Amino acid sequence: MKFDTPATTNPIDQLKVIGKPTDRIDGPLKTTGTAPYAYERHDAVDNPAYGYVVGAGIAKGRIAAMDLAKAKAAPGVLAIVTADTAGKLQKGNFNTANLLGGPEIEHYHQAIAVVVAETFEQARAAAALIKVRYTKTPGQYDLEAVRKDAPPAEKGKNDVKIGDFAGAFAQAAVTLDATYRTPDHAHAMMEPHASTAQWDGDKLTVWTSNQMIAWGAGDVAKTLGIPKDKVRLISPYIGGGFGGKLFVRADALLAALGSKAANRPVKVALTRPFMFNNTTHRPATIQRIRIGATKDGTITAIGHETWSGDLPEGGPETAAEQTKLLYAGANRLMATKLAVLDLPEGNAMRAPGEAPGLMALEIAMDEMAEKLGIDPIKFRVLNDTQVDPAKPERLFSQRQLIKCLETGADTFGWSKRKAPGTARDGQWLTGMGVAAAFRNNIVMKSAARVKLDAKGVVTVETDMTDIGTGTYTIIAQTAAEMMGVPLDKVVVKLGDSTFPVSAGSGGQWGANSSTAGVYAACVKLREAVATSAGIDPTKAVFANGRVRSGNKSVALGDAVGVNGLVAEDLIEFGDLGKKYQQSTFGGHFVEVGVHAATGEIRIRRMLAVCAAGRILNPKSARSQVIGAMTMGAGAALMEELAVDKRHGFFVNHDLAGYEVPVHADIPHQEVIFLDETDPMSSPMKAKGVGELGICGVGAAVANAIYNATGIRVREYPITLDKLLDRLPEVV
Ligand code: MOS
Repeated sequence: MKFDTPATTNPIDQLKVIGKPTDRIDGPLKTTGTAPYAYERHDAVDNPAYGYVVGAGIAKGRIAAMDLAKAKAAPGVLAIVTADTAGKLQKGNFNTANLLGGPEIEHYHQAIAVVVAETFEQARAAAALIKVRYTKTPGQYDLEAVRKDAPPAEKGKNDVKIGDFAGAFAQAAVTLDATYRTPDHAHAMMEPHASTAQWDGDKLTVWTSNQMIAWGAGDVAKTLGIPKDKVRLISPYIGGGFGGKLFVRADALLAALGSKAANRPVKVALTRPFMFNNTTHRPATIQRIRIGATKDGTITAIGHETWSGDLPEGGPETAAEQTKLLYAGANRLMATKLAVLDLPEGNAMRAPGEAPGLMALEIAMDEMAEKLGIDPIKFRVLNDTQVDPAKPERLFSQRQLIKCLETGADTFGWSKRKAPGTARDGQWLTGMGVAAAFRNNIVMKSAARVKLDAKGVVTVETDMTDIGTGTYTIIAQTAAEMMGVPLDKVVVKLGDSTFPVSAGSGGQWGANSSTAGVYAACVKLREAVATSAGIDPTKAVFANGRVRSGNKSVALGDAVGVNGLVAEDLIEFGDLGKKYQQSTFGGHFVEVGVHAATGEIRIRRMLAVCAAGRILNPKSARSQVIGAMTMGAGAALMEELAVDKRHGFFVNHDLAGYEVPVHADIPHQEVIFLDETDPMSSPMKAKGVGELGICGVGAAVANAIYNATGIRVREYPITLDKLLDRLPEVV
């Protein structure tokens, strides 16, 4: 099905199942510990061996010598694979550095060997006996140091110059020129990267934890130099990804290589302390923002330049992107610069670009509002744009930013906000902050297969993944709505590369795109079922487990016959996305308390108001947003990979040193979804929310801290040491 004209009324609009707050159908499996994750496929493989990955002890250079003798002789060891013995490997399309390094080392903890043994403990003990001698080469690990010479990313093709930014900024009555910094972030998902691999002749099966099955199967095949149809990836349950599992990583490749060498199924899980430097992270940014406005608060010049670093051939953190679309302003400058750094590979993490970009832009907007003496919500409303500022003829498909902010202000009690540093609750300085949320709505083609059997049960198969987002449930809701059956008559099978290729879970495109693929397949199945029942497909009504037209009504199971019926289709998106700018919007509100003596920062309340198309399942969507708000609070107050600038690695590579929020850090959260359907986005009229929820949160926290204390911090995370010497005298 090609989607290239705005959606009209369709069976989804019945909203009998779609749009209802529905418990996750995989919930009982998850909460009873019976959902089999990649490392736990005891049902699938016999007599597995265990692989332990050895990582490089330098950031850049070469392996001069590697002595495996003692490790090979250690108890239980079955095989050791290194770059010397792995055979010819290619780099995957989605990897910047090789997943198995050596002799060249591209980053710290790049995998250089996998030791396979009878038990995990034996593999780990043997790995410790491997002796490696390195020849180090100097590397560059300091973004600050190389920032000045960093060239435009991708030759500047995403940079924007509209009007005369420099002239307008110079002439503006009120200006802000400030630089903000966000540190490197780790995904720190609960389930580590893990895989179980098994060969059957030249066929490879990998049970793994991966967001994008087709990309992953393709990259495993490419890396090993085998045909794609010889690789099967299976990933039905995923304990979080956040972008860190968009691509296959060393666990999948080394489980496959280890399994081949040991001639046994092999399991490989990356250990927690290994993940931080071995896998990808969100790159640190330095962002310079300049805003010029008239005295009455109309923005005349807006500039956002961002710097980040990555390994050679890597990509930038695109932190200036939202600034192209969020606010009006005739004269505009957006530039993204990319330095070469020899730190581990930077890549996508939840709302790549916008998440750190809004952490800077939305403090800048707060600062500007204060300079102008205008309420920060009014300032944003004043500079709202209903068109793409770069192409004024291009409208947004839906844009309810103002309503998000105004609804939030009413609900949150914004009118009670006091001047900076003037509200107190005992020993606590209290304050409120706001930030706009923005994230683009990307659509991706997505396929599904739908079967209807003689019992009237609908089974959906697609390689779509559920990374804890609720995909199983919204796909079941879609099929139930389309086929007119209750939810318990739908079986959803996901995460298998033998299923039709879906959008996958990334860029908050998963919910809308994958359900639209299921919609397309169901449209075909409805035709087939009606025809089989002797009913005109254009007049068929599907409800209560039956298909009917006029006074003819047939139970679905009877309509399809003993063998059932199957339909498969793909949703493909035309250029509605070019004609209309499709984005999601929100407003984040935060109240904090800052201890007047110690500077301890406590979030008291959070509210998100989101406008993101039709909300397919308000319950799982809310969970997505509160999870994202929590992650945003982490980015605001805690999360920072500390770079060792001498040796080029992240020092705090475990969950003791890399802090993320726990329950006590997040006392109260509320989420409001505005009523919205977007006929430009898909037949589902839905969009994504999983990334929108994190966008702007950090700045809302920072702005609340400013409101509480009068202290402006432009470097994340905002820890108490950054407040301590500037706190007012305690009385
Ligand atoms: Mo998302 S960072 O595209 O998984």
